[in-house]
Amino acid sequence: MILPIHTYGNAVLRKVAEPIDEDYPRLQELIDNMFETMHRADGVGLAAPQVGLPIRLFVVDLAALKEDNPELADFRLALINPEMLDMSEASLQGEEGCLSIPGIHENVERSKSIQIKYLDSNFVEHVDVFEDFKARVIQHEYDHLEGHLFTDKVSPIRRQFIKSKLNNIVKGKTGTSYKTVKASK
Ligand code: NI
Repeated sequence: MILPIHTYGNAVLRKVAEPIDEDYPRLQELIDNMFETMHRADGVGLAAPQVGLPIRLFVVDLAALKEDNPELADFRLALINPEMLDMSEASLQGEEGCLSIPGIHENVERSKSIQIKYLDSNFVEHVDVFEDFKARVIQHEYDHLEGHLFTDKVSPIRRQFIKSKLNNIVKGKTGTSYKTVKASK
């Protein structure tokens, strides 16, 4: 089932999300729905707050990038209650976008590598190191669980440039090819 994506200005995107346990109702169905929603919207990552749920869960699937990056073909994960253990001082600039912030793409500085602990969809614990683009996507999604958005991290000058675009999203003036929940005012 496709879930509507909450766009910039919705309070749920600014909440610190709560951990969940195995009793969370219909969790597998939710994870399936998040993958389906993300694929339909041509995204590579989607966090639960983006579908209106302030819980610590996100999904990533980088298979869409396999033409240029064969090593990403099998990178499809659901991460539950993730905990960032380490973030490298070495960083990389790269362009990001977000399904909750349609029409805006900006350069963001991220750690080149991270170490993260998380539960998979079977509640099996993993500790993994991810690098480069994988690390970038995971940092972006992890930020969603902390109530942070990539536009918070762009340079002050660029932030001035995108201010009116962000306001248009809040006002519901920005069109998308996917179903959204606009900020209620
Ligand atoms: Ni995002």
